[in-house]
Amino acid sequence: MKDLAGKHIVLGLSGGVACYKSADLCRLLLKAGASVQVVMTQAAEQFMTPVTMQALSQRPVYGSQWDSRADNNMAHINLSREADACVIAPASADLIAKLAHGQADDLLTLLCLARPAHRVPLLLAPAMNREMWQHPATQRNVAQASADGALVLGVGCGDQACGETGDGRMLEPLEILDELIAFFQPKLLAGQQVLVTAGPTYEAIDPVRGITNLSSGKMGFAVARAAREAGATVTLVAGPVSLPTPLGVKRIDVKSALDMLAAVTAHEPQAGIFIATSAVADWRPTEASASKIKKDGSGQPPALQFVENPDILATLAQSQRGKSRALYCVGFAAESHDLLANAQAKRQRKGVPLLVGNIGPDTFGQDDNALLLIDETGTRELSRDSKLSLARKLIAEIANRIGSGAQS
Ligand code: CTP
Repeated sequence: MKDLAGKHIVLGLSGGVACYKSADLCRLLLKAGASVQVVMTQAAEQFMTPVTMQALSQRPVYGSQWDSRADNNMAHINLSREADACVIAPASADLIAKLAHGQADDLLTLLCLARPAHRVPLLLAPAMNREMWQHPATQRNVAQASADGALVLGVGCGDQACGETGDGRMLEPLEILDELIAFFQPKLLAGQQVLVTAGPTYEAIDPVRGITNLSSGKMGFAVARAAREAGATVTLVAGPVSLPTPLGVKRIDVKSALDMLAAVTAHEPQAGIFIATSAVADWRPTEASASKIKKDGSGQPPALQFVENPDILATLAQSQRGKSRALYCVGFAAESHDLLANAQAKRQRKGVPLLVGNIGPDTFGQDDNALLLIDETGTRELSRDSKLSLARKLIAEIANRIGSGAQS
């Protein structure tokens, strides 16, 4: 998916060991469809050669404000006018300090100051030693750069090149890419709180066995990511899946349907939108055995008793907040056949304003899907596409229905 198709990005590198990650970031930006103009400070050139960055970006790198290649000899003006965004990764403590004070003694700081700020956003990915990051002077400069309109991305925590451990690592290239992609998405759910369930649940039979299903959680994780990209604060309650948490999303891991209900109940009062994508197990063993159930030699399987799990979606949809639409509830229906009829019946049964039908066996574990949206006015098909694209379309449909997102 070419999320940055048609975008021209100035990728600025200031001095730091994290420059080695910027080579990968450059490749990822190109792969996402962007064109990339690399600008390096002198300090950055101590860590990474312009030759490497030129080869990766397929454009000559700029490093000096006196570069005579520009006809008008104003590289800072030309480069900043062409860009759809400037991303500085790594942004060193020194570079952030210069930006905070409006200093412009090299090409990179000069073009940041000269850029038309209303249409060329500036994203900073800080990278430095943990003491430098925590220093009040750095934090002051970060706050000032933010107040002046820069989007200062977070920092990672972990091992640092200096041998110390703590906050201050540059985000990983994929995380920076995702932040940039998110930045360009319309903020249709700005100010909204969204609660999402995703993945299967696992109902224990004994300490080593249980009942679950084939849900991968990919659709729900894509929905959580798309909601966050649209400006919402997102809580994701996830059954047992091995997927990375979308950036900026609060994740709560649960196992069983009862755990999921408890987590959802705890977070529902703050939410304005609830999207239930989880494939909740319909039944659980009445009582999980405390020890492993052994074969008794009779050839007979154990006589397991089951009890129905609570319906999390229906519980919320039929609550006071659900009924009054203070909590806008969206359900999913994983069907194997008769999608329209089954999904329509499910919408009625659960009492949700919007139900999203899909054919479970066609999508479980896949990266793409096709959706059928059903509400009181009728149906709408979202044809086969990546789960992330569909999730973004679904978020737009939800925003439209709740009247959110004047800003595009
Ligand atoms: N759901 C839920 N709690 C349950 C069962 C389902 O919150 N105990 C939610 C799912 O997250 C989904 C919707 O209800 O949003 C429909 O789930 P689905 O598994 O398709 O349907 P069921 O209600 O289980 O009905 P059936 O198995 O009969 O198709």
